[in-house]
Amino acid sequence: MPAKKKRKIVIGNWKMNVVDAATAKSVMKSVKNVGAKLKNTLTVVCPPYPYISLLKASPKVKLGAQDVFYEEKGSFTGNVSVPMLASLAVDYVIVGHSERRKAGETDEVVALKTAAVLKTEELKVVVCIGETTRDAGGDYLGFLRDQIRASLSKVQKKQLEDIIVAYEPVWAIGASEPMNARDVHETTLYIKKILSDMYGQEEALKIPILYGGAVFAKNAREIVSEGEVDGILVGRESVNPPGFAELLKAVDSI
Ligand code: PGA
Repeated sequence: MPAKKKRKIVIGNWKMNVVDAATAKSVMKSVKNVGAKLKNTLTVVCPPYPYISLLKASPKVKLGAQDVFYEEKGSFTGNVSVPMLASLAVDYVIVGHSERRKAGETDEVVALKTAAVLKTEELKVVVCIGETTRDAGGDYLGFLRDQIRASLSKVQKKQLEDIIVAYEPVWAIGASEPMNARDVHETTLYIKKILSDMYGQEEALKIPILYGGAVFAKNAREIVSEGEVDGILVGRESVNPPGFAELLKAVDSI
């Protein structure tokens, strides 16, 4: 019997690109139509907060949040807590996206948010990491190592099953082309080595590693199959229903 294929995860991060509730509902509807037919792929849609309770998750299309605050409650104007998200039909939370880091979020804050999400049983956390530039001397490798160690500094081994790591080289986000698939593979092997050093190989190798940055329908298959990642984190193409449908089918066919 052929070995069972490992399930892929495709996360669509809408960012602030869906500008009204009616469009949010229609994009979600189209994602659910395709998502329901996939055999081997879990889809996660991360809309802006105001749309979360307007949208319904389904068995194969889950809902995620784009960020969260680490305090549980209190006078924190404009913030949203983990218990609030857990009380809705949310299953995933992205933390440490480079657009949040650019707005001032430090590794320390990412670590606090990651720990806050892992305190609940209900939610899984998608921790984003990635270098801003690649230098020929390889300094980015040390940067990645330090960023992973710091961002996961409060995560215990027994919590690893609720973690997904998204490798997103910042220079590829919003670009026209992704990183080449061979480099994706090499870098994710390096990330696995860092995680193995932290938690032991057996546990570390169970952590899904996604790639993100300029993935579209046309390159998703190559990135996932040749990059040997467990899935992708998609920005722009996730709010383009026809393109996202093609992307999902391409990933599911691997
Ligand atoms: P992009 O964004 O797909 O639009 O490049 C990726 C991301 O920010 O996760």
